[in-house]
Amino acid sequence: MDSLASGKAPGKDNIPVEVLKCCKEIIITELYEIFCLCWREGGVPLDMKDANLVTLYKNKVEFLYCDLASMKSVHQFVQAFKEKNCPLHVLINNAAVMLVPERKTDDGFEEHFAVNYLGHFLLTNLLLEALKQSGTHDHNARIITLSSATHFVGELHLNDLQSSCLYSPHGAYAQSKLALVLFAYRLQHLLTEGGGPVTSNVVDPGVVITDLYQNVCWAAKVIKWMTAWLLMKTPEEGASTSVYAAVSPELEGIGGCYLYNEQRTKSADPSYDEELQKRLWSKSCKLVGIPDVAP
Ligand SMILES: NC(=O)c1ccc[n+]([C@@H]2O[C@H](COP(=O)([O-])OP(=O)(O)OC[C@H]3O[C@@H](n4cnc5c(N)ncnc54)[C@H](OP(=O)(O)O)[C@@H]3O)[C@@H](O)[C@H]2O)c1
Repeated sequence: MDSLASGKAPGKDNIPVEVLKCCKEIIITELYEIFCLCWREGGVPLDMKDANLVTLYKNKVEFLYCDLASMKSVHQFVQAFKEKNCPLHVLINNAAVMLVPERKTDDGFEEHFAVNYLGHFLLTNLLLEALKQSGTHDHNARIITLSSATHFVGELHLNDLQSSCLYSPHGAYAQSKLALVLFAYRLQHLLTEGGGPVTSNVVDPGVVITDLYQNVCWAAKVIKWMTAWLLMKTPEEGASTSVYAAVSPELEGIGGCYLYNEQRTKSADPSYDEELQKRLWSKSCKLVGIPDVAP
């Protein structure tokens, strides 16, 4: 299985690193080899402290640079990936920022919206053909998009997607996570209509102890520190639903699901609004400069 997951923090455990570890049996025992992760500048390409991981994945894992905040970088990444001429069976749209202060990317997009949503929107669209070619009738290629329970309180402001009118870090994060659910469902709709052997599902990993919480206020940090052992999942537990979505035979050919604790469950009501899904898709195509092929 050749897979691609966005967001690998060098030198620390987070969800994609755990996905990597959980997939080791598949990577090692099956013929398929390459497992690429997008990665930001400024670190070593693998956690060198974890000697076992380095040995285990030698020549099987490759890191390619991709800054999801930059649409140019996403294009360059896809170009580099395509030059490798390898199939793509699983794409995990995982990377995210949370509660960052108001700031714009070089493209002029609000940072949560750009990194969490638009970067993945463009990445997926540019890789769709590779996924369609790699999937088969018996083994569909799979797109897994990480959202969050926060999407339940999210509101999508189609006329102010960049949160320019009234910025709140919580609001911007929640909007990006709702946008990802709308995107994943719309994508499944288009794939069903287009007949490609690819599925699109959403994963909510639950509340997991990772660096995602680095921007919460000090009071929340204290509460997190005191209760984490009781209330929060370890990165390994947090990765389990992503792994389930990526490899479970139960989900063969099944898309359009919201998965939590390895179970299908309901997402927020607005996420099922097909008109909203369609309008967001159209706007997103315009923002990232790709044609809207959808009817
Ligand atoms: N942790 C939770 O409780 C929780 C709850 C619900 C949903 N989720 C979702 O689960 C997913 C994984 O989160 P996590 O908890 O593993 O968080 P994390 O440890 O903070 O990992 C997020 C990853 O995204 C990467 N990233 C950030 N900006 C990027 C950019 N511009 N380009 C490329 N990569 C970038 C980070 O790389 P750097 O480290 O190099 O910055 C990091 O490796 C996210 O989508 C998150 O919203 C997490």
